[in-house]
Amino acid sequence: MSNVESAAIESGLHENRVFPPDAALGARLGGAAIGTLEAYRAEHARSIADPSGYWGEVARSFDWFTPWTSVLEWNLPDAKWFVGGTTNVCHNCVDRQVANGHGGEVAIIWEGEPMPGGVAEVRRFTYADLQRETARFANVLKAQGVKKGDVVTIYMGMVPELAIAVLACARIGAPHSVIFGGFSSSAIVDRVVDARSRVIVTCDGAWRRGSVVPLKANVDAACAELVGGASAIEHVIVVRRCGNDIAWTEGRDRWWHEAAAEAADACPCEPMDSEDMLFLLYTSGSTGKPKGIMHTTGGYMVYTGHTSRVVFNLVPERDHVYWCTADVGWITGHSYILYGILPNRVPSIMYEGAPNHPGPDRFWDIVARHKVTHFYTAPTAIRAFMKWGAEHPQRHDLSSLLVLGTVGEPINPEAWMWYHREIGGERCPVVDTWWQTETGGHMITPLPAATPTVPGSCTLPFFGVDAAIVNEAGEELPANRGGLLAIRGPWPGMLRGIHGDRARFVETYWSRLPGMYLAGDSARRDERGYFWIMGRIDDVINVSGHRLGTMEVESALVSHPSVVEAAVVGMPHEIKGTGIAAFCTLEPHFTPSDELIESLRAHVGAEIGAIAKPDRIRFTDALPKTRSGKIMRRLLRAIACGDESSTQDTTTLEDFSVLAKLRETDES
Ligand code: PRX
Repeated sequence: MSNVESAAIESGLHENRVFPPDAALGARLGGAAIGTLEAYRAEHARSIADPSGYWGEVARSFDWFTPWTSVLEWNLPDAKWFVGGTTNVCHNCVDRQVANGHGGEVAIIWEGEPMPGGVAEVRRFTYADLQRETARFANVLKAQGVKKGDVVTIYMGMVPELAIAVLACARIGAPHSVIFGGFSSSAIVDRVVDARSRVIVTCDGAWRRGSVVPLKANVDAACAELVGGASAIEHVIVVRRCGNDIAWTEGRDRWWHEAAAEAADACPCEPMDSEDMLFLLYTSGSTGKPKGIMHTTGGYMVYTGHTSRVVFNLVPERDHVYWCTADVGWITGHSYILYGILPNRVPSIMYEGAPNHPGPDRFWDIVARHKVTHFYTAPTAIRAFMKWGAEHPQRHDLSSLLVLGTVGEPINPEAWMWYHREIGGERCPVVDTWWQTETGGHMITPLPAATPTVPGSCTLPFFGVDAAIVNEAGEELPANRGGLLAIRGPWPGMLRGIHGDRARFVETYWSRLPGMYLAGDSARRDERGYFWIMGRIDDVINVSGHRLGTMEVESALVSHPSVVEAAVVGMPHEIKGTGIAAFCTLEPHFTPSDELIESLRAHVGAEIGAIAKPDRIRFTDALPKTRSGKIMRRLLRAIACGDESSTQDTTTLEDFSVLAKLRETDES
């Protein structure tokens, strides 16, 4: 925050390509949720003028056990939605479909990573299957002493039992805390202690590019650290997936399949107060320990279900097959593989493995075989696909695709165009959805049949979202002035707190701008009202008093034919105060040279302006990333600043060797 004061953040990236919505798309989708920009504008205005009326109407399309008495009680920063209402999210995802005669329809299509003999392992789960399996596992949890309100920790690979475990927790009102299977045992320890969880659900191992990630061993290591502490783990339930050797602690460990075989396959859905906690999900802040973001029942259910229906334009009985490539360990997987999608009665694909295993066309093979209509992925994946080459998608029939989505970071226009052209065949709208773990669901996004898209812009706020670009005093800035992205007023999917840390919740999101939610992103709004995310506030660099979003410089670099991926950070500079350091990965047929550095500097100068020319450019085989694919800029910043100390927390690095290599070359 410190480096974003009241002055504007300069924005030099200008994009003029506009892609109007295809008038025939609504019909191909089986009906447009919102069919024109005018319809969007009218509904948005109505939702802002009367949030209670709007959300009350939306919420009535879900099942409630007892109706709410008021839609919203708002005492900043505390919102209560659907006050007094009771419901159950698992009921709305699963049991409701069965009760309405759809039990035989496919809810989840699971595809395994190994391809034994070149054949994909596929399992299909109907709503009736999910009802039986979630009930059975709910009974297993109860038999281990889990009661309503107890936090269950889930640390698994992308196996179907992960979805079943999550929904089973919702069924009995035990909040889950899913820890991404790529994290280490120390991440388990921190989260288990914070959540005071006594039960962990895990797997023997998880497949990752043909090798086994030892999940159970990591849980054992975490339990060993926790022994005798306040949060000792009492029960570990283990799914057998890889058949790898594991240690076993009698009395604590139980095989999933054995426990489930003994359990009854009926278990009622617990009536939950609308504001009862549904789950905790830990996310990193810019400093300090991970924050346990709390989401509750009614508002989150309504918000994720409604955004899924409108933003992806899901329609049942139209052969839609939806695939979100995220891991359930992240908010995207929670909201847009499971909770938002299942109530919409469209099959959701869950894929266990990596995008390039056994080959770089694995995703396109899955799209073609399952006739995927809706595909949702991240810019980092798209840039990897670009690097691997268009010949891989070109080998497969992607004509089933109707809507493409992206999430997680700003998408540079080059990647957007490639996605639109090579994956979408120039037929599919790209919905660039801006949102956060904290927001629960989509906040700023195009609607596929209504919003003209512009590469790199997440366009317009969703219904009920009053987004603005403000300065530090909370004053709205004019068009094209960069500032702080803020949300005025509550929305149903918003976080309800940080577990165990009220002060941090208030301080991080609600205290810096008067009466508004501070998203922590910098952004601008163009003359048509479209939002352009410029990056996290701490990714904004101040060069000679000019503020630049690192993402804009990165985007300019990536638009050069030699650069695949770029990360830009600030570094101390004698004259400018802060200079720009860029780390780039190159297309295979380019080699690093001084000429190339000069040509890149000139290119950025031409794209944005001389002020944005990197002072230093480093080439690297790969960039250090978190498991979710976000570039770890603070590590790069430390390298750029010459700080090689080991005080940086590297637990979320995808590949430690990347960092080691960067350090090595720096020293040479
Ligand atoms: O900086 C924004 C970026 O990701 C942040 C939220 O990260 P996380 O809580 O991990 O959730 C990711 C999945 C929702 C945001 O503050 N971000 C997310 N989506 C976009 C984005 N930046 C630009 N464009 C997006 N579409």
